[in-house]
Amino acid sequence: MTSVRVWDAGVRSFHWLLAVAVSAGALTGFVLGRLTLAWHLVAGVVVLVAVAWRVVWGVLGPTYARFASFTYPPAVVLAHLRALRGTGRRRHLGHNPLGALMVFAFLLVLAAIVLTGVLALGGLLKQGPLRAFLSYDAGRSWLRLHNWLAIALLAMIAAHLAGVAFESWRGRENLVAAMLTGDKPVLTEAEATAPVHARAGLAWTIVLALLAAGTAAVAALAALPGRGVPPAALDPVFAEQCGSCHLAFPPSLAPASTWNAILADLQHHFTTQAPLSDEQVAHLRAWLDANSAEHWDTLPSHILRRPAADGSLRITDTPGWRRRHARIPAAVFAAKPVYRRSACEACHADAASGRFAPQAIAIPPAQD
Ligand code: HEC
Ligand code: HEC
Repeated sequence: MTSVRVWDAGVRSFHWLLAVAVSAGALTGFVLGRLTLAWHLVAGVVVLVAVAWRVVWGVLGPTYARFASFTYPPAVVLAHLRALRGTGRRRHLGHNPLGALMVFAFLLVLAAIVLTGVLALGGLLKQGPLRAFLSYDAGRSWLRLHNWLAIALLAMIAAHLAGVAFESWRGRENLVAAMLTGDKPVLTEAEATAPVHARAGLAWTIVLALLAAGTAAVAALAALPGRGVPPAALDPVFAEQCGSCHLAFPPSLAPASTWNAILADLQHHFTTQAPLSDEQVAHLRAWLDANSAEHWDTLPSHILRRPAADGSLRITDTPGWRRRHARIPAAVFAAKPVYRRSACEACHADAASGRFAPQAIAIPPAQD
């Protein structure tokens, strides 16, 4: 029995690389949470490059890699569906009509997941190429769609695995092995189509050119200032007076009403007193009024701008802060080296800038 190379090295590498990247994306996105955002983004970039490569390979690759080899007219798809219930079957060396539809659906949904992910990243975290264009609220909507598409993708993967198992059983051939070795046995003379040769050099040139242009465009866009992210320079009086005992909390972390109330009673400043001259207080009031959370569109400014219901002026008593830190054991805050909830900089390397990016979060190991 002769066999034929159905899945070339390119298609096989693409398939398994995609399986790894999508698994990593699902694991970091659904299970591990925002502390693994950096890996989630790496997975997204790998998926994007892989999909772009597959589209080019679908035009320039060898016989069975080409989209043209598995673009079936609707009548053929329907006939295939009908045949599924009967015993008559026509074997497809490449993708069968149903599998082919799945390939196109996968490529579309994967592209949509990456796109909505970039939209969410730009709006919510003011990161990535779209940070200059999207509001926080828009980012939230895109994140919702991103999540739904990811769930749809999981369902499609389940259907794909079921399809592979069913076809392997029905056709008595190991389709998983075929995706590993690339070869399938040829049963009848008629099955072997005349081979089309890949234009690998041209394909790689196009993909590398796309990659270079894409990287340059992303870098240029990501260098634009984020929308609703004013320059974060601290007022010198604020930096000196309000940064002498603790982190000079970026003004975006509380609404104007909270800042005003804090300034109004510096004699009873939480557990101490913070003596500032009337002049300094007036100066800070004007600066904080102009730079409070309401003037920002960042994630911290949005989740922290609603004050605590009991009138507490603490950032760490706001419902937004409580919710985001609910899963951290109280002991972590009480022990060395954190000591206080308000020591944002102990866990957020970028606290002074007000960014609070997930990639900059790390809970320091406890010391005794
Ligand atoms: C003399 C030292 C001192 C100075 C000066 C000072 N603070 Fe404080 N601040 C404290 C202490 C102590 C706390 C309570 C820390 C804790 O319990 O976590 C605190 C807490 C805070 C908190 C609440 C943190 C939380 O738990 O959410 C804010 C907001 C704050 N200070 C803002 C300011 C501002 C604005 C200024 C400048 C006008 C200022 N502080 C100046 C000592 C100071
Ligand atoms: C003991 C370490 C620790 C301290 C101290 C701490 N945080 Fe956090 N913070 C975390 C962790 C961990 C997360 C991520 C929680 C999660 O979603 O899994 C987080 C999440 C956040 C987020 C959400 C980030 C995002 O993109 O979802 C904000 C905003 C934030 N913290 C602000 C603050 C501020 C402001 C302070 C100080 C007043 C502070 N944190 C103090 C550990 C800390």
